[in-house]
This record gives sequence, structure tokens and C-alpha cells, in this order.
Amino acid sequence: MELASVHDFLKGKTILVTGATGFLAKLFVEKILRVQPNIKKLYLLLRAENPHIATQRLHDEVLAKDLFKVVREMWGADFGSFISEKVLAVAGDVSLENLGLKDLNLREKMWEDIDIIVHAAAATKFDERFDIAMSINTMGALHALNFAKNCSKMQILLHLSTAYVCGEAKGLVPEEPFHMGQTPNRSSTLDINVEKLLIEEKMEELRAQNAGEQTATSVMKNLGIIRANLHGWPNAYVFTKAMGEMILFNMKGDVPLIIARPTTVLSTHSEPFPGWIEGVRTVDVFVVLYGKGKLRRSVGRRNTIIDAIPADMVINSMIIALLEAQYSKSLSKTLLYHIGSSLRNPFTISDLEDVAYQYFTKNPLINKNGKPVAISNKVTWISSMSSFERYMKIRYVLPLMGLNVVSKVCCHCYDDFHMESQRKLQTLMKITRLYKPYLLFEGTFDDKNAEILRMAKNKAGDDLGRFNFDPRNIDWMDYVLNAHIPGLVKYVVK
Ligand SMILES: NC(=O)c1ccc[n+]([C@@H]2O[C@H](COP(=O)([O-])OP(=O)(O)OC[C@H]3O[C@@H](n4cnc5c(N)ncnc54)[C@H](OP(=O)(O)O)[C@@H]3O)[C@@H](O)[C@H]2O)c1
Repeated sequence: MELASVHDFLKGKTILVTGATGFLAKLFVEKILRVQPNIKKLYLLLRAENPHIATQRLHDEVLAKDLFKVVREMWGADFGSFISEKVLAVAGDVSLENLGLKDLNLREKMWEDIDIIVHAAAATKFDERFDIAMSINTMGALHALNFAKNCSKMQILLHLSTAYVCGEAKGLVPEEPFHMGQTPNRSSTLDINVEKLLIEEKMEELRAQNAGEQTATSVMKNLGIIRANLHGWPNAYVFTKAMGEMILFNMKGDVPLIIARPTTVLSTHSEPFPGWIEGVRTVDVFVVLYGKGKLRRSVGRRNTIIDAIPADMVINSMIIALLEAQYSKSLSKTLLYHIGSSLRNPFTISDLEDVAYQYFTKNPLINKNGKPVAISNKVTWISSMSSFERYMKIRYVLPLMGLNVVSKVCCHCYDDFHMESQRKLQTLMKITRLYKPYLLFEGTFDDKNAEILRMAKNKAGDDLGRFNFDPRNIDWMDYVLNAHIPGLVKYVVK
């Protein structure tokens, strides 16, 4: 495989990006504008009722972010006119047919113009309502595919999935697409239409009962967990993302398709500057709890490999995958990539705890009273959910019920968590159950395809040096200590 320059490849291209207010899509947009200002047009699909709101969201939630400071500096006073020429915010909704684009003229223009679609929009909460996750993650993928089929110059549809569509896997997880109906437990039969029907029936039932929003949310969240677990997935997010992949892979027809499956995405490693991040996800929930002095005991194993990857490396891999697809001889095949680190440069819970300890000892968070927060020296990791539940029951639930059997239990965990009520305890158990699959994960993601891509990139010209996504180049201790945790504190904990 011979790769030419990214610069040449992107020149004059028109790209549609969905989910452009999100963490990863925003980084993709920033990098494209920074490395190839001669892009023809970026259509950014933002969830909005009308173009006015979409444009407002583009300015407030995308361009105004610190992330764009390098591009802003590059253009100075011309930044506004550069953006007006190159970027168009379009109002849409991926859960609707035609991606919810109401303006027929605009839609037809887009079908004529677009060369590449990057589909990043998703419902990313692990415990999202089943109906919502299905309509965005599964049906949204179908709507993006159908939109691609209407584009006359369509070159590539790149779909952002997640490596964890594999469920709670063990051993080497292959870079293979899903066949229709394939499930992690291999014992159940999955039919996407049946799942949709179940959702409709449940919604009908809730309407008949005049159920309020809160009840409906709770019922639909539960349904998501039940259906996901039945087929072997831990939550509605990965279940509906897996079904989205099934639809794409099995219904793509002639559309050249890339499925990129990042693992756990952390802040930027280098570009446009180290440490930029938005939102607290997966492993960062625990880093933040630790920094706040609220993590003393949790489910997990010290030697669990956290498969993580800096966000800018994900973006670089996406751009190189697009470039490769352009030159690939077999565009009819699906190109699928795991973008992670577990195989080539593993980083464990124990490593993370050490570096978090170093960071927060030197730079403690400041509590409401202006005092530095004390962190625990070592977290006690409990290697099964049942042991954790047993512990929590003895330590907290029985006393709440007026039973006193804790006298012999000598634990200091969560002492300053101030669990005043059962509600707080339930929240903690819920969080733990949600994250347990990742804290006890026993799989390693094969990344042969990604490695082939890296080798091709390394052989090619200088221009590709700016698109590093080799996990072996991450010095975990240095990056987490000096970029990732400071970024989390600056942009998320504040
Ligand atoms: N971040 C990670 O650690 C990670 C890891 C692996 C894979 N991924 C995948 O990477 C992709 C991007 O993730 P992210 O972390 O950037 O997600 P994110 O920050 O949660 O952003 C999701 C984006 O999707 C948009 N969206 C949701 N529903 C929509 C709808 N109906 N119509 C139009 N837009 C809609 C959201 O718009 P609103 O602002 O309107 O809500 C938001 O812009 C996702 O597909 C995710 O599954 C992420």
C-alpha cells in the first residue's frame, strides 16, 4: 500500500461530519481545518430545530472552545471569514430519515457535493434509555448509510464505533465485523426488528398507563439493560452500537465503509496541544473520584489493562484510514480498525493509581472550604461485583436498616463519602455496576489492521509524520501525569 500526502488527499474535498458538538468530531474538524485549509467544505450536522440554532451551537459549543485557539491564531482577524467560507452548520437529527434535514434544496446540494461522511453522532451514556440509544446508535447508522447512498460522489463513509461492542470479552478480541444477529454470548438470537418492536410495545404500554417522564425513563433504561444482558452485552450503549455496526456491514451495498473502533479515549497527547478533553468517561470517573478523595474501595483488579488511547491519536488514525481507503484496491471490503493500546503498550489500573497519587499529592484539589483534599494512599480493589455488593451491604445497607453488624468490619473506604441516604448508596452501586465491565475487562484488542495502516504511514512521506497513532509512542507516566490529569482538572473538574 502506497500512501500519498494527506494534504493532497483532503484538498478540495467536501466532508459531512455528524455529532459535531461532540468530543471526537470537534477534534476531527479542528485537525482538518488546521492541516488542510484548502478543504472545499465541511458540513457539520448539529442536532437543532433550525439553521439559526445550528449556527449558534457551532459558534458556542465548537468554535469557542480552547481547542480552536491554534487555528484562531493561525488566521488572526480572518478566522471568521475562513470559517464562513469553509464550514456550514446544518440542522438535523440522525435518528430521523435523511438525517432530519428538512431543507430539500440543501439536502440535494449536499448529495451532489459530499465526498466523505464521518458519522460520529451517538448516544454515549452507558445507561441511556433503550428507545433513545436504539434510535440514535442503531437507526442513526442506517440513516447515515442511506444518506451516503444518495451522494453521487460518495467516496467513503467512516463510522465511529467502539471497541467494546465485543461485550465482556476475554483473550484477543479480533478486528472483525459483526454478522447480522451475532451476539457475544452466541446462545441467543438477535433480531433488530424484534428489539424495535419491543420498544414500540413498551412505549405504547407506558402511554396507555399515562406514565410520567421519570417512570418512562426508568422503564426504558431498565429495558435496555435487560435486552443488552440477554444477548451478552453489558449495557444499552454498546448493544445499540453493535447493532449499528451490523446494519452498516450487512447493508452497505456499494458504499466504501470504514469502521473505526476506538477503545477508551483520553485527552490529547500532543495536538493541537496536550491535555484537551471534554466530559468525564469510563476510567476518568475514577480519576476524578480519587482526586476528590472519594475513592477508597472499588470493583476492579490492579492488573486490569485499561485500554486507553489519546484523542488526537484516534483522529490521526481516522484521517490515515480515510487516506488508505482512497488508495485501497478493494474498496468493496469493509476496513475495520481497533484504535487502542492494550496489545502494544499496556497501561494498568495500578499504573493509573500510581500516577494519580503522584499528581494529586503534589496538586491537590481544593474543597468548598478552600482546603486541599486529602486522597487515600492506596485504593482497595475488589475483584468481583458480588464481593463488592456484600461489603457494601454490611458496611452501609444493614446499618441503614437499623441493624448493627458492622462492628467487626474495619474499613475506611468511602468514609468521607458522607453517605447520608440510601439514594447515595444506590447511585454508587449503579455507577459501579456500569463501569464494572471495564474495570474487570480481561480482553486485549487485536490491532493487526491498524498496525498495517501504521506501517504504510511510516513508509510514506514526511507529511504523514503529523498523524501519529502508534500507542508505543506513549510514555504513559509522563502523558497521564503532565497532560491527561492536568487537562481533566482544567477542562472538566474546573
Ligand atoms: N469518547 C470515547 O471515549 C469514545 C470511545 C470509543 C468510541 N467512541 C465513539 O466515538 C463517537 C464520538 O464519541 P464522543 O465521545 O465524541 O461523543 P459525545 O461527546 O457524547 O458526542 C456525541 C455527539 O453526538 C450528537 N448526537 C447525539 N444524538 C444526536 C442526534 N439524534 N442527532 C444528531 N446528533 C446527535 C451529540 O449532539 P448533542 O450535543 O446535540 O447531544 C454530540 O455532538 C461515538 O460514536 C462514540 O460511540 C467514543
